[in-house]
Amino acid sequence: QILILDFGSQYTQLIARRVRELNVYCEIHPYNNAPELTDDVKGVIFSGSPCSVRQEDAPEVDIDAYCGKVPVLGVCYGAQLMAQKGGGNVLPSEIREYGRAKLSKVDQHNELMKEIPVDSQVWMSHGDTISELPENFTIIASTPSVRVAAFKKEGEQTFGIQFHPEVTHSTEGKRVLRNFVVHICGCEQSWTPDIFVESTVASLKEKLGDDKVVLGLSGGVDSSVAAVLIHQAIGSNLHCIFVDNGLLRKNEFEDVLDSYKHMGLNVKGVDAKDKFYTALKGLTDPEAKRKAIGKVFIDVFDEEAHKIQDVKWLGQGTIYPDVIESVSVNGPSVTIKSHHNVGGLPDYMKLQVVEPLNTLFKDEVRLVGKTLEIDQSILGRHPFPGPGLGIRILGDITPEKVHILQEVDYIFINSLKKAGLYDDVWQAGAMLLPIQSVGVMGDERTYERVVSLRAVTSVDGMTADWCHLPYEFLADVSNEIINTVKGVNRVVYDISSKPPATIEWE
Ligand code: XMP
Repeated sequence: QILILDFGSQYTQLIARRVRELNVYCEIHPYNNAPELTDDVKGVIFSGSPCSVRQEDAPEVDIDAYCGKVPVLGVCYGAQLMAQKGGGNVLPSEIREYGRAKLSKVDQHNELMKEIPVDSQVWMSHGDTISELPENFTIIASTPSVRVAAFKKEGEQTFGIQFHPEVTHSTEGKRVLRNFVVHICGCEQSWTPDIFVESTVASLKEKLGDDKVVLGLSGGVDSSVAAVLIHQAIGSNLHCIFVDNGLLRKNEFEDVLDSYKHMGLNVKGVDAKDKFYTALKGLTDPEAKRKAIGKVFIDVFDEEAHKIQDVKWLGQGTIYPDVIESVSVNGPSVTIKSHHNVGGLPDYMKLQVVEPLNTLFKDEVRLVGKTLEIDQSILGRHPFPGPGLGIRILGDITPEKVHILQEVDYIFINSLKKAGLYDDVWQAGAMLLPIQSVGVMGDERTYERVVSLRAVTSVDGMTADWCHLPYEFLADVSNEIINTVKGVNRVVYDISSKPPATIEWE
C-alpha cells in the first residue's frame, strides 16, 4: 500500500482517490500521528498544506524516517518541506501562484516524469516557492515562473513536485502518480472490488465467528452494502432493523423492505411513525427537529436491539471520508448542520462496532455493491438525509404535511425517472414551505401551500450546482403537482448553488 501523510491540504482526499483509481490501496494518516513503516508500505506521499514551511509552528515530520527507506513523493508543501529540511531554501513567491501553468522543461528520462510532455498543463496553488535546492537535488521539471516545479534527490527515490497532480486540471497528473506508485514504488494494481469483497468477507468471518451483529438499515447505499457484506460472512447471525420514522418517501418503507427481503437479509421493519410525530410536535427549529429525530431513532433501535439475545456487535455503513474527517489534521470542520458531526450510537449500547466500508470512498462502495449484485434501484439512489422529510418540511411537522410532501416528491422523482433524468441528477427532492399563497382554480380563489423543487449536481455533497432541468419538464411536473396534490397551488424551482446555499433548506 501507499501511505499518505496529511499536512492539512484540501486536496489530500483527492490524492487518495487518484491512487485508488490506479487500483492501488492507500491510507491517509495525519502527519502528527503517522504509523511506522511496515513491509507492506511501498511508498509514501507527503500532502500539501495551508501552512508555510517558514512559519514557526509549521507542521513537520522526521523526513529521515521515510526518505531513503522507501520511495517518497512530496506534493507542494510536502516538496517544500523536503527541500528545506535538506538544506535548501523556501521563500514567499512574488505573486501567489494559483491556477493553470504549463511545464516548459521536463526531464523525460527521469522515472517520475516519463512520458510527461513539455507544454503539459499543471495546477499550481502555492504562496511559497523553492528558491534554492539542496546540493544533491536536481530539477526535473520547470514552468516559466517556477524553476523548481519538480525535483529528485540523487541516490534516493525521493521526489518533490510543486504542482498538484491529483487535481484534474493537471492534465498528466494521473500519469505522474502512476509513474510514482506503479513504476517507482512497484505497487501491484490489484485493489479491485472483487478482491475487496473476498478479503473483507474472509476477515469478517474471522472477526465475528459465531457472534451476532445488529445493523440499522436506512434504504441507502452504504448501509445496504455493509449489510450484504456482513451477511455473506455470517448469514442469519446478522439482524437488520429498518425503522419507519414517518418521514420517508411515499411507499419507501414497503418497497425497500421488500428489496431487502429479496436480498436474503434477515430484516425487521419497525413502524415507529407515531413516536416520531409525538416527539416532533410543535418543534420548528431545524436543529431541535434533527435532535428529536435522532433521539427517537436511538430509543427505537435500542429497544429492538435488546430483543436480540446476546448481540455483541453493531454493524455500521461508515465510509472513508467520515473516518478521515474525524481524524484529520484540522479536526472536523465547524458545525453547519449537526448531522455532519454526529457519529453512531451511544456508548451505553456497549456493543463493539464493525464497519466493513470504513476504508472505501463512495464510488468504491457502489462498485462493491455491483460486485455483490445489489439491485441498481438501491445502488443508484439519490442520497436522502437521515431525518428525511422532517427537514424538508420547514417549520413544524404534522402527518398531514408529510402526506402532502410525499405526494409532491413522488411526482417529481417519478417524472425524473420517466424523463431519463434521474441518473443525471445527484440529489432531488421537494420542500414544503411554511407559507400560503393566493391562487385561482376554476372560478375559485385559493389560499394554499407552496412547494419548492430542488435538484442538484454534485460530486460529494460538499459543493453543488442547481440542475438546469428543461423548462418543458418543469412545466409538466408543476402542472401535475398542482392538479393532483390537494392543498398545493404553487410550485417554485430552487436556483441556488452550494455554497452559499445548502442542498437542504434546513
Ligand atoms: P446540506 O444541506 O448540508 O446537505 O448541503 C449535504 C448532504 O447532506 C445531507 N444531509 C443530511 N444527511 N442527516 C443526514 O443523514 C442530516 O441531518 C442531513 N442534513 C443534510 C443532504 O441530504 C445532502 O445530501
